[in-house]
Amino acid sequence: MTQRGISTAVVLVGGLGTRLRPLTNLLPKPLLPLLDIPLIGHQILWLARNGIQRVILAAGYKAERLRSELLRHDWGLELTVVEEPEPLDTAGAIKFASQGLEETFLATNGDLILNPSLADMVAAHKAAGAAATIMLRRVEDVSHYGLVLRDDTSRVIAFLEKKPEDETGQRTVNAGVYLLEPNVLHLVPERSSWSIERRLFPDLLASGAVIHGHLPARPYYWIDVGRLDTYRQAHRDLLAGVVDWCGPWVSEQATISPQAKLVAPVFLSGGVRVGPEAVVGPFVSLSPCVEVGEGARVEDSIVWATARVGHGARVVGCVVTPEAVVPDGESISDRIVMPK
Ligand code: GDD
Ligand code: MG
Repeated sequence: MTQRGISTAVVLVGGLGTRLRPLTNLLPKPLLPLLDIPLIGHQILWLARNGIQRVILAAGYKAERLRSELLRHDWGLELTVVEEPEPLDTAGAIKFASQGLEETFLATNGDLILNPSLADMVAAHKAAGAAATIMLRRVEDVSHYGLVLRDDTSRVIAFLEKKPEDETGQRTVNAGVYLLEPNVLHLVPERSSWSIERRLFPDLLASGAVIHGHLPARPYYWIDVGRLDTYRQAHRDLLAGVVDWCGPWVSEQATISPQAKLVAPVFLSGGVRVGPEAVVGPFVSLSPCVEVGEGARVEDSIVWATARVGHGARVVGCVVTPEAVVPDGESISDRIVMPK
């Protein structure tokens, strides 16, 4: 911890992204495009805004691709990619990637887009003298998440990963953001597959260590981009301006026919071409060099770089991947379009 707070974050990005297949056959989940930057870029920018100076990506699946895509950008902080020899699960991966860290550090799930301030969490961690602090989130359906039960001082008393409905009616879950004292990782065996949710947190609780649950006082944006529906929702939220995005909406390098119609909100990247009488939007993101043919209609869809929507085609609720082509005149909805 520096004078200002926490300086280092270990970000978990090694999962297979199974629930996002077949998109994650093409790209690892952290590189899925969201407007003009990859998913993980949104999180790195949030960390930089919160004063984090060093991000260690704990990688596994397609780690080389992550390196080649991410390390050539300047994210405003020091970024490294640590590749584990085999999947070590969440706690094993944090232990492997955080070797040598001697100060309190942040650990996060890398598939989150979020914007809470970290300052209050750091203050709460210190005040509680906690070994670990877990950021919390209230949700409607707890079954996808880790349910966190607390006493009335916010000390965690139970951590229940992906349990069906809790009979207590509790709705407060693990938001996938942790402050950890390095010594908690002594409970994780070297280089073994070990889950923070199913093993380390329950073991820490059993040992009597203080785990603090931090529910930020101010409302904050948060989404786990782990499934197709949340990938699409994150786009809609970014397009609607619900969460921070300061990039351009329509690139000056896009070529839009004067006879085409853009229906806000839309995002059009550089090199995009939209033909006459085409209608694009609302809630559409076109990545670099996408072509939308004459008279085509694209709505509520995400079109990745270099894909092509043919003349007169209609695309609604779709993800169109690179080099994929929607043939002229074809009408498709709620589909992932892969290249042939
Ligand atoms: N390096 C590495 N190695 N990373 C991994 C591994 C691994 O073996 N396994 C998973 N990860 C990474 C994933 O890439 C992801 O960023 C993060 O760990 C969490 O895994 P997910 O698969 O996304 O978990 P989840 O969304 O089902 O549940 C988790 O997140 C919820 C909040 O969104 C849990 O932490 C829940 O408790 C939590 O509520
Ligand atoms: Mg997830």
